[in-house]
Amino acid sequence: MPQLARRMGQAKPSAIMVIAEKTRALKAQGRDIISFSIGVPNFLPGEHVYAAARAALEKDSGQYGSNRGADALLDAMLAHFERNGIAGLTRRNLCVGIGAKQVLYNLAEALLDPGDTIAFPTPFWTTYADIAAIVGAKTLLLPCPPEQDYKLTPAQLDAALAQKPKVFLFNNPSNPTGMVYHREEIAALAAVMARHADTWIVLDDIYNRMVFDEVGYHNVLAFEPSLRDRTIVVDSLSKTYGMPGWRVGFAAAPEHVAQAMVTLNSNHITSLPEVVSAAAAAALAGPQDIPAAQCAGFARKRDVVLAALAQIPGVRCPRPEGAFYAFPDVSVAFGRTHGPSGRLIGNDVELCEALLESAGVACVPGSAFGEPRALRISYACPDAALAEGLARIQKFFAEFE
Ligand SMILES: Cc1ncc(COP(=O)(O)O)c(C=O)c1O
Repeated sequence: MPQLARRMGQAKPSAIMVIAEKTRALKAQGRDIISFSIGVPNFLPGEHVYAAARAALEKDSGQYGSNRGADALLDAMLAHFERNGIAGLTRRNLCVGIGAKQVLYNLAEALLDPGDTIAFPTPFWTTYADIAAIVGAKTLLLPCPPEQDYKLTPAQLDAALAQKPKVFLFNNPSNPTGMVYHREEIAALAAVMARHADTWIVLDDIYNRMVFDEVGYHNVLAFEPSLRDRTIVVDSLSKTYGMPGWRVGFAAAPEHVAQAMVTLNSNHITSLPEVVSAAAAAALAGPQDIPAAQCAGFARKRDVVLAALAQIPGVRCPRPEGAFYAFPDVSVAFGRTHGPSGRLIGNDVELCEALLESAGVACVPGSAFGEPRALRISYACPDAALAEGLARIQKFFAEFE
């Protein structure tokens, strides 16, 4: 019997998708489930995006496009990076992908040989570990527990980079914690990165337009321009513009890295569809009022989530300042019995299962992100569902014996 390739022994389906499947199955049985599990932005792009897509459809050539990305889209990306403080790039520094996920996959293939090490802080977005496993890279995890607000310290980074990992992957604002590094924190991390010249720096900054409390989005390149030669900035339209299903991700990189991704695209995906490219260019270059309004809305919802969690004894939630996630430490429930279901809760997975089955609220266990004391609440849902889901969570925790 022929076998699957050895690399598939390492790969597993995304834990977030597993919860989403379970939620869908319960919903199909007619159960009333509130989903705080999947990271979808829950709003639609502006009319100008659809108009651009319709216009492109009218004159769609039906041909393959550029492996790097359509010119108009690349130019919109250049302007976008410039607005984010990353100036001086040219089209040759850019490359698109089918979402940031494929861009990250391309980067893993372009930068990591089997046995190389990729370092990243925990909690981490689940896919990082899975992509590393598929390309046969070792992972060096840098634990950032709730006691340090889930943030990496310069000393931790220094110790990690001293081990010369091939790649350091940094996500800011963070999925799953919603934490955002402040200006001085980024400056301190940048200084450490500059001291360790043997490591590629990959910045997954796809939530850069979702930062609250006037903290602002900051980027190591602004503090250490010397990092330009070995830093790749990954971005995406999925969350910012309410376009997850359009599948547009992109990266700014040193020319030869961008070219490597273009080569991989030429063998993996060829190009983005013309209609998608036109819509993406319109989103990036057009009015930014929808992302701005959504960001303000998420900040308001964040306050609602924190206020509700603060009322649950023993649950502690470092204050998120971006994205649309909260990541409370719920370990207070471990080792205790949930009265109505009679379930003894041993860990985060059992807690999320009990919460889903008894209270009808879907959250993702923190262990999926490398922090088993927590669970992730994705709060990008309508206000009424958010209030109901939070009330159910409060009731669920009050029912412990
Ligand atoms: C931190 C982070 N990076 C990358 C992605 C991938 O985004 P997409 O492939 O939709 O562009 C996600 C999606 O949830 C994410 O949270």
